[in-house]
Amino acid sequence: MNAALCALPGNEAFAAQLGQQLGCARFGVEVRHFPDGETYVRLLDDPAGRQLAFVCSLNDPDAKLQALLFAAGTARELGASGVGLVAPYLGYMRQDRRFKDGEAVTSALFAAQLDRAFDWLVTVDAHLHRRKALAEIFAMRAVDVTAAAAVAAWIGSQVPQPLIVGPDRESERWAAAVAAPLGAPHVVMAKVRSGDREVRVEAPPLERWRGRTPVLVDDIISTGRTMAAAASALVAQGFAAPACAGVHAVFAGGALQALRDAGVRRIVTSNSIVHETNAIDASEPVAAAIRELIPQN
Ligand code: R5P
Repeated sequence: MNAALCALPGNEAFAAQLGQQLGCARFGVEVRHFPDGETYVRLLDDPAGRQLAFVCSLNDPDAKLQALLFAAGTARELGASGVGLVAPYLGYMRQDRRFKDGEAVTSALFAAQLDRAFDWLVTVDAHLHRRKALAEIFAMRAVDVTAAAAVAAWIGSQVPQPLIVGPDRESERWAAAVAAPLGAPHVVMAKVRSGDREVRVEAPPLERWRGRTPVLVDDIISTGRTMAAAASALVAQGFAAPACAGVHAVFAGGALQALRDAGVRRIVTSNSIVHETNAIDASEPVAAAIRELIPQN
């Protein structure tokens, strides 16, 4: 078998799930910092002639990118036949246009950096808002799989008679994709964000779904303010505080508390980012995509 997976620090569990499904080798990498803060990287197995897939979720991307790029470059120098990136969460996708003069469109610049280092990319539920596909910013083969089926399976096993609720128009595609396999209805709310942590959400009238249990579904929980405001809007209509299911547990400072303050008690996420709320395994569609990219697996 030609392919091998190599987990950057913190990504071992996801790589192990993939390794089991793909039946391929796991290679090691040592990453540490010199006293002056510079990054040391050493590949612990010989990548010559191998398709090497680095597994690295790119939340907190500034802290992770340097080691990842050094590892990929070293694999190439040492003769890897291909160098891929499995990034269950792909950071920097939300700044997808220049909102103010002079701003960096970091989604495209970040994509260009990754393009220079890797031959292919697999990610989960990339935040494509004003863009339709990763191909608009990536030159390499970039595959965006969805964890919607896994999110739906969790809801199906835990929540009777669910009503799937997306907290904003952008979440419509996830809400619809999660609701479909459950045969459940879905609705979306209207969101206005006036600052990083200032979010207002309006729910449509939900009277006709009174007998159902609302579950909020979104791609990213970052500050948690979107989910918190959406939960409050449901409570204002007389529903109990809903469960919240997010694909990516970004959880920027204070997010979990903001959700708890809004009365939310059940918060689940996928393992695309390691977090205490992980309850959903997103590795299956990723493994399927890797199998297609490296057919000899
Ligand atoms: C926004 O467009 C995304 O789909 C999420 O709704 C958003 O990133 C959540 O952010 P926060 O948790 O900071 O409200």
